[in-house]
Amino acid sequence: MADKKIILTGDRPTGRLHIGHYVGSLRRRVELQNSGKFDEIYIMIADAQALTDNADNPEKVRQNIIEVALDYLSAGLDPAKSHLFIQSQVSELTELTFFYNNLVTVQRLQRNPTVKAEIQMRGFNDDESADNKAGIPVGFFCYPISQAADITAFKATVVPVGEDQLPMIEQTREIVRKFNSTYAPVLVEPTALLPEDAASLRLPGTDGRAKMSKSLGNCIYLSDDSETVREKIRGMYTDPGHLQVSDPGKVEGNPVFTYLDAFCKPGHFDRFGDCFVGKKVSFEFHSLDEVKAQYRAGGLGDVMVKNFLYAVLEDTLAPIRERRHRFEQDIPYVYEVLRQGTLAAREVAARTLAEVKAAMKINYFDPGVLDALIAQQSDKYR
Ligand code: TRP
Repeated sequence: MADKKIILTGDRPTGRLHIGHYVGSLRRRVELQNSGKFDEIYIMIADAQALTDNADNPEKVRQNIIEVALDYLSAGLDPAKSHLFIQSQVSELTELTFFYNNLVTVQRLQRNPTVKAEIQMRGFNDDESADNKAGIPVGFFCYPISQAADITAFKATVVPVGEDQLPMIEQTREIVRKFNSTYAPVLVEPTALLPEDAASLRLPGTDGRAKMSKSLGNCIYLSDDSETVREKIRGMYTDPGHLQVSDPGKVEGNPVFTYLDAFCKPGHFDRFGDCFVGKKVSFEFHSLDEVKAQYRAGGLGDVMVKNFLYAVLEDTLAPIRERRHRFEQDIPYVYEVLRQGTLAAREVAARTLAEVKAAMKINYFDPGVLDALIAQQSDKYR
């Protein structure tokens, strides 16, 4: 059925998920899942992709599979509606990758901006003699092709991802067009679905750096306890020019406000208004714009804004944390969810692979095909 609406997306299991993952994609997935507008939803733990730059650390990947699964379930992904599965256990994906490899040039891969940036970030380098720079693993270099296999195996129409994944979707679309025009129209071109607001598109780290990343130690994790969240917010970078409460403050580039942009809802001003009640000064705000205006004008201190942010964040994080604690007490259930999801995923991927092989004329032993082949080749030598 060509008009089915199908979601596929996923994450590399290299660490627990943080609030950047949450607003960047996870929150949206849950909304889409619950909208009832999709026929099939596949959420993949991309362990094989994680191994492309963690080949020497399989234990880290193995440990984080369960962490990511716990984060998924506690954020609201529901196994009754979404198939949660483990990438490496769907071997059809590697087979598809192998065939797609022929449709992509080295030059095209080299132009992929995300791969470029990641090569830089990881210190991979063309110079194999340099310390710590053993060169670029081939598997890593080619992971956009494997990602195209992930997406197309399920004929996904929609891929909810963060902004950094756009080049992957673009490259997938190219592979689909190339495959369909070279062989037969088997594959479906996916569209990326990005967060709608700028804050969620690129949530900065608690230190104000552009990206939240485990290696920078500037993350708030979905699994952080309440006290840890409070401490991390207390230590957050704000406007370094905002020395006195009375000084005018900057909202732009101030991660406290970016987080508020991403998490604050209208009802929060009623519920958490007491954050702005102080011994010396009090404010009554009805919208984030009013808070920002006061901060810009001066007189509103960082402590008040941070207390409000803590309340706002906890409103989202506390229920997630509670659900996580429950799932943590039932690890067998979590693995069963992954096992069932993987079985379902494998079935679908196998169907696509069969179509791909037929289109590529490498289905020699398929029913009907063999007889025809025998007849044809026998004729040739008659
Ligand atoms: N590249 C994604 C990440 O960095 C993970 C991923 C692998 C993925 N395959 C995918 C995302 C397919 C969307 C669709 O986490």
